[in-house]
Order: sequence, then structure tokens, then C-alpha cells
Amino acid sequence: MASSRATGSEQPPLSDAESIARHKRSAARAAAEEVRDGMRIGLGTGSTVAYLLDALGERVAAGGLAGVRCAATSPATEQRARALGLTVAGLDELGELDVAIDGADQVDGDGWLVKGGGAAHTREKIVAAAARRFVVIVSDEKLVRRVHAPIPLELVPFAVGTTLAKLAPAELRDVPHSPDGGLIADYLGALDDPRELAARLSATPGVVEHGLFEPGLVSSIVIAGEAGIERRAGAKR
Ligand code: 5RP
Repeated sequence: MASSRATGSEQPPLSDAESIARHKRSAARAAAEEVRDGMRIGLGTGSTVAYLLDALGERVAAGGLAGVRCAATSPATEQRARALGLTVAGLDELGELDVAIDGADQVDGDGWLVKGGGAAHTREKIVAAAARRFVVIVSDEKLVRRVHAPIPLELVPFAVGTTLAKLAPAELRDVPHSPDGGLIADYLGALDDPRELAARLSATPGVVEHGLFEPGLVSSIVIAGEAGIERRAGAKR
């Protein structure tokens, strides 16, 4: 049989990275269809959200999305959204959002998420909680049986060594401070019960926010893979 190289008639197989990028783009484009004129939208952070911004930007360029206003979860998202012609405003100004759309690092079978790979989980959780609907967009390699460490953390800089000792095992991540001045770290220990760990992290003095997102925050999960798009209903109606 002739190889694709010899005939030039077939595409070479996509690398894993190319497939994942294609799936992220599909999930983002499917979720972008939820956005309608006049809506107030929450925009997450990350490479999947970058595809969402492209999809929304195309509609703006074509004269669509009249009156849509967006709250951004990071300076990078805000800059890109503005460059694409989207209107960005503060969350306090917008109030309740119609929908927030964001990626995730892990999605488990019970609907728990881990977020914060891009260190934006504090703002992302505030924006998700401010939205009537929170839609998560992922490629299917983000699916896990049970959420596991590392769990991103944002910590108050004061006495961070003391806070890390309480959270052990946990370590600072070598990334810049959050835009709100927090230090980014990861909890690296066991995770038997996400609700119990979420409560423990929230109750630890010095923890600003953690990257465990409970199922009750999520309205819908759009998962893209080789088989196409799957939409899982979340607990938030
Ligand atoms: C940023 C996040 C992102 O949503 C998460 O890290 C997924 O990123 P990507 O879409 O690049 O895979 O939580 O804080």
C-alpha cells in the first residue's frame, strides 16, 4: 500500500498536541453559540478560552453580538477580548452575568473541576459564581475518574511559609503574583474527598482561594473529542 507521503493524497496523522488543540477549539466554538446579543458574559482564562475569544471576535467583526458586555478573569483575556472588539467592563459594573465560559484542568465523573493551571482560579471562581450559567469547555483529555493533586492555590504573601506548612505537602509555583497580589502555589497531597479538602483549604488562614470547583457551580460541560461534542448537564440550573 502506498504511504501518504508517497501519494500525497492523505493527511499525516495529527500529533496529540494538534488533536487536543482541535478539540479545545471545537468545544469553545460550540459554547460560543450560547452567546446572544445584549448578554453579559464572563470570560475565563487559558488556551481553550482563546478559541472562544476568536469565535466571539469573528461574530463582532461580522457586525454581530450587539450590546454584549464581558467581564474578564485575567489581564491576558481582557487584552485579547478588547483587541477583538469585545466590550469589557468590571464585574461590579455588570452585576449578575447571563453566562460565564471557561476551561478546566480536570473534570471528574461527579462534576468536580480542578482549575488554576493558568493561576487565574480566584477571579475565575468569582466570575463563575456571579453567572446564572457557568459553562465549562474542555478537550476530552481533561476527563479524570477522580480529581487529584496538584490543586492550585492563591495565598496571601504574609507569612507564606507558615501557611504552606499548614497545607503540607504544598509548594509555591514559580510564576508571577496574581494580578491581585497573591502568591500561586499547589497542594500536592492526597485527595480522597474533594468536598472535605475544599473545606479544609477554605478554612486555612492565608488561603485566598483554591482551584477545586464544586459541581454546584457548574451548569454544563462541553467536552470535545474524536467522537464529536458531548454536553454534560451540571448541577447549577
Ligand atoms: C486558568 C484555568 C484554565 O481554564 C485551565 O488551566 C485550562 O487551561 P487550558 O484551556 O489552557 O487547557 O483554570 O487558571
